[in-house]
Amino acid sequence: MASIAFIFNGEGNLLLNCTTLNVVAWISFCLPKEMAMLGLDYKDRVLALKKEKNAIILAHNYQLPEVQDVADFVGDSLALSKNAATTDADTIVFCGVHFMAETASIICPDKRILIPDLEAGCSLASTINSHELESWKKEHPDAIVVSYVNTTADVKALSDYCCTSSNAVKVVNSIPEGREILFLPDMFLGAYVAEVTKRKNMYIWPGECHVHAGIKSEDINRMLATLKNADFMVHPECSCTSSTLYHASKGDFERQAFVLSTEGMMKHARSSRAKQFVVATETGILYRMRKENPDREFIPIKNDAVCKYMKRINLEKVHNSLVNDVYEVKVPAQVADKAKLAIDRMLAII
Ligand code: 13P
Ligand code: SF4
Repeated sequence: MASIAFIFNGEGNLLLNCTTLNVVAWISFCLPKEMAMLGLDYKDRVLALKKEKNAIILAHNYQLPEVQDVADFVGDSLALSKNAATTDADTIVFCGVHFMAETASIICPDKRILIPDLEAGCSLASTINSHELESWKKEHPDAIVVSYVNTTADVKALSDYCCTSSNAVKVVNSIPEGREILFLPDMFLGAYVAEVTKRKNMYIWPGECHVHAGIKSEDINRMLATLKNADFMVHPECSCTSSTLYHASKGDFERQAFVLSTEGMMKHARSSRAKQFVVATETGILYRMRKENPDREFIPIKNDAVCKYMKRINLEKVHNSLVNDVYEVKVPAQVADKAKLAIDRMLAII
């Protein structure tokens, strides 16, 4: 049954309705205001478009609540990469930062990888480029290069291994003791890994993430003074990581302090017997922690530990991404093939 209806919106623009077109396609003509008039919001639209386009949404733990709520999967860098590797979807809308979408493109070259905002970068990934890494490698020609996943595809292509905060220690431990290691780009994660593995022949790039570098030992000490019974969960990119390990080894904590990736924090929040947790990472993760553990209290170490890059993505941009198939992230094959070796090694070490 075919029928056509002409509707004028509030600004006098003509909208076309045709029942032989499916409802989803018709609404794609509509502007946000018209969607509200129809009682449809971005969330409903995004959920419908995902089905229509056989797309999935992957969201990092730091994403806004409205984005996490429409995601098929929310997790840390490693879990998102693994999910990208196994999905049957044709399109992945990657709600995270650019290097994460690049990683998905390298792992799944046949899929369309979209990022809702191309300006969603990473201050840490920007601290080293491929030319700088090439020069560094020349100074240490026999070294094994271990790159944190927060790097561009060009840098990954020059690396032997990738790692994330959840498997960095295991990756370094898997390398024969006698081999020098160039670890990049995060100096706090590097110092943490060197301390845990007792590795002496590890050279560390002096990069940092502006959000985590701002979480300092004074912040931990301030919290320690009042919250003796809380579990302290610290991301290894924080500048306070080493001092936290020091406090822990001196027995300054009534309970233990834990250096964890974002997903490690989620697991710990579920399994610990503590009722109160101090969270030393980007504040976006608190939404998921509180949602999944309503009986527990989560206290951000700093309310302003906010990554402006992660927060560039919102529901409206996710909707735009699905409607217009933007913005595609595609790593060229010659770079992707080399980078994939390093990423595959990361995925093999859980
Ligand atoms: P995770 O690997 O722990 O998710 O961290 C990624 C990141 O960008 C931290 O700032
Ligand atoms: Fe990069 Fe830091 Fe933002 Fe993580 S929090 S994406 S490391 S800038």
